[in-house]
Amino acid sequence: MDIPRLLSHTAIWVCADGKVQLNHAVRLHGSLLGAAARFLGNLVLNGEFGMRKIGEADNEWRALMLGFHHVGVQTDDLDNCLNWYLDYFEADFSWQLDRFSDLTLDRLPGIVKLIEVKAGDVRFHLFDRSAHNRRRPPAAGFQFQHVCLTVDAADELPELRRRWFELYESGKYVFARPDPPSGIVTDADGTRSLYVLDVNGLEFEFTYIPGSARD
Ligand SMILES: [Fe+2]
Repeated sequence: MDIPRLLSHTAIWVCADGKVQLNHAVRLHGSLLGAAARFLGNLVLNGEFGMRKIGEADNEWRALMLGFHHVGVQTDDLDNCLNWYLDYFEADFSWQLDRFSDLTLDRLPGIVKLIEVKAGDVRFHLFDRSAHNRRRPPAAGFQFQHVCLTVDAADELPELRRRWFELYESGKYVFARPDPPSGIVTDADGTRSLYVLDVNGLEFEFTYIPGSARD
């Protein structure tokens, strides 16, 4: 998507009053990027993008810097889910929790246990709900529809596809949906993608972007 990519490379600050400051972008990046920043700033002011408002006492201009931490996976069978995530993602167990704050119990009634597993820099928080209804959200409704993870070599994609079939055919896991992985698609710019479902029927995309570290 062109606009978010531009946004990430163009400095846009948010002031204490929540207004977007563009002058810095003009000074730092020159007139061309400044013009882009003015355009994007209008989008921000029009509510197209959410930006962080800095504390009232803080007059510093700052860009919002986000990093990825984890994906929360809600399942009806934690053992089944845990075993598949450990095996498919070659993940490591990190920690587990079976006592929760009032806030968590209010957000996630019926939560029994939460386990974190980690693969590379990606963490998964796997948890079950005592009143899980085994239904999927409506396909056309609001939802995080898929999670995309990068691989650093093109040959990881066929391996991830092969491993999905291997685990599926092992009979060791219960799958909510039997849909097999997609083929590996290649975009015009050489980016390759593979789509697979986890044991809960949740969709992951794996993508390889040319120019990665192991090329
Ligand atoms: Fe995607």
